[in-house]
Amino acid sequence: MMTFPVLFVFCLIFSSSYAAVQDFCVANYTAPQSPAGYFCKNPANVTVDDFVYTGLEVAGNASKINKVRLNTAFVSQFPGLNGLGLSLARADLAVGGSIPLHTHHGATEIILVAEGTVVLGFIDSNNKVYLKTLNKGDILVIPPGLLHFQVNGGNSPALEFAFFSSADPGVQILENSLFLSNLPTELIAQTTFLDTAQIKKLKGFLGGTN
Ligand SMILES: *[C@@H]1O[C@H](CO)[C@@H](O)[C@H](O)[C@H]1NC(C)=O
Ligand SMILES: *[C@@H]1O[C@H](CO)[C@@H](O)[C@H](O)[C@H]1NC(C)=O
Ligand SMILES: *[C@@H]1O[C@H](CO)[C@@H](O)[C@H](O)[C@H]1NC(C)=O
Repeated sequence: MMTFPVLFVFCLIFSSSYAAVQDFCVANYTAPQSPAGYFCKNPANVTVDDFVYTGLEVAGNASKINKVRLNTAFVSQFPGLNGLGLSLARADLAVGGSIPLHTHHGATEIILVAEGTVVLGFIDSNNKVYLKTLNKGDILVIPPGLLHFQVNGGNSPALEFAFFSSADPGVQILENSLFLSNLPTELIAQTTFLDTAQIKKLKGFLGGTN
């Protein structure tokens, strides 16, 4: 049987070599992302810069269609977020700009309006619509998975920040799913009751085929 001092020394060795608490799992981008996130970077190689992201000080790239510029700090850009279940984006909406109906599978979203006026809406599973005009400083929470949209509701540019309860919230935009994909027009007509001419027009506009 081990004597107390031997056991103590054994535990000390054991804890210093194996019991280090893993405080974080900074993304190692060498392997592709899985639904559980990225592999962890060796903690010896982690630096403070892995926990800092400096890309959000400017608007994202312009989109021709919706007059919105999106810039994201998701885990694919910001390695320190890996495994932490949150992320952030900014949206700059020009006058008349909008973000069409979309969902983030599995992520709750909080929107903070930093400049201007934004009309926000989401629709629940009973098709009840929740609409609100938000001004600077107002925040609204969108429950996970629900379709929602934003429209600039003022005469000046609007800036908002969106916080997500996922490091990789993803986005599925309804109009893109329908009119930027190769889902056959006939099936879209059958499943949405839109007429074929309108579907073809929207596909021409957004780049869908079939
Ligand atoms: C990242 O993963 C690759 C492949 O497993 C590994 O060779 C490399 O050492 C890792 N880098 C760090 C910084 O942990
Ligand atoms: C990670 O850190 C170890 C130990 O400091 C070093 O030998 C190795 O080169 C580093 N790897 C990378 C990918 O920076
Ligand atoms: C904007 O586009 C450039 C060129 O394609 C790209 O390098 C950059 O990452 C994009 N910025 C954002 C915020 O998406």
